[in-house]
Amino acid sequence: MFRTIQIATVLIIAVFLIQSCAEKKPAEVNKNVQYVSGADEVTYLKLGKEITDTVGKTLKSNLVKAMENGGPVNAVTFCNSEAMELTAIYSDKYNTEVKRVSDNNRNPANVASEVELAVLADFNQSLSNGEPVAPKVAIDLEGRKNYYAPIFTGGVCLSCHGNEKNIQPEVVAVIDSLYPLDKAKGYTANEIRGIWSIKFKNS
Ligand code: HEC
Repeated sequence: MFRTIQIATVLIIAVFLIQSCAEKKPAEVNKNVQYVSGADEVTYLKLGKEITDTVGKTLKSNLVKAMENGGPVNAVTFCNSEAMELTAIYSDKYNTEVKRVSDNNRNPANVASEVELAVLADFNQSLSNGEPVAPKVAIDLEGRKNYYAPIFTGGVCLSCHGNEKNIQPEVVAVIDSLYPLDKAKGYTANEIRGIWSIKFKNS
C-alpha cells in the first residue's frame, strides 16, 4: 500500500514537472531578450537603421549587378565571397558587429544565437498577428545595446532562396556544393528570411 502511494506520488510529480517544463519553454526563450525603450531605443534604432540601410543597399545593388552580369549562378559566387566581407567592413567602420543571421541559415557562420532566435520568434509572431514588424533594441548580458531588424524575402530572392519552381537546377548545384548544410531554400515572398543583428561595441 505504502509503495503504491510512493509510486503514485512520483508519477504525479513527474507529470507536473513535464507539464510545467512544456508550459515554461516559450517564456524561458524570451527571457533571453531584454528590449529597451526610451531615449536609448530612439538612439540605437536610428543608428541601426543607418547601418542596415547602407549595408543593405550596397549588398542589393551588387547582387543585382552580379545577376545581370552572369545570372544567379554568378551571383551565388558573389554572395559567397562578398556578403561576409561587406558586413565586416561596415562592422569596423561603425565599431559594431554587423551580422545577418537566420533560423534557416545558408552559411554556417550565420546561424542565429538563442537570443536572436527569440527575437526572430517575436518578429514572426507580430507577422502572423498582422502587426507591423518593427526593429527592436535590446540590452545584452554585458550591458551593450543590440539592434535587430527583420529581413523580408521579395521576388528577387526566390531565385536562390525559393523552392524548386523558382531555383534553376544549376543554381541548386552551385549552392549545394558551396553550402552542403544549406537550410535557406523553400521560402516564398514576404516571409522573414532572417534578421540584421548589430552589436554596438562601445555602448
Ligand atoms: C544569387 C543568389 C541569391 C539571391 C538572389 C539572394 N541570396 Fe541571400 N544568400 C545567398 C548566398 C549564397 C548566401 C550565403 C552568403 C554567405 O556565405 O555569407 C545568402 C545568405 C543570405 C542571408 C544570410 C543568412 C544565411 O542564411 O546565411 C540572408 C539574410 C539572405 N541571404 C537574404 C536574402 C534576401 C532577403 C534576398 C533577396 C533580396 C536574397 N538573400 C537573395 C544567395 C542569394
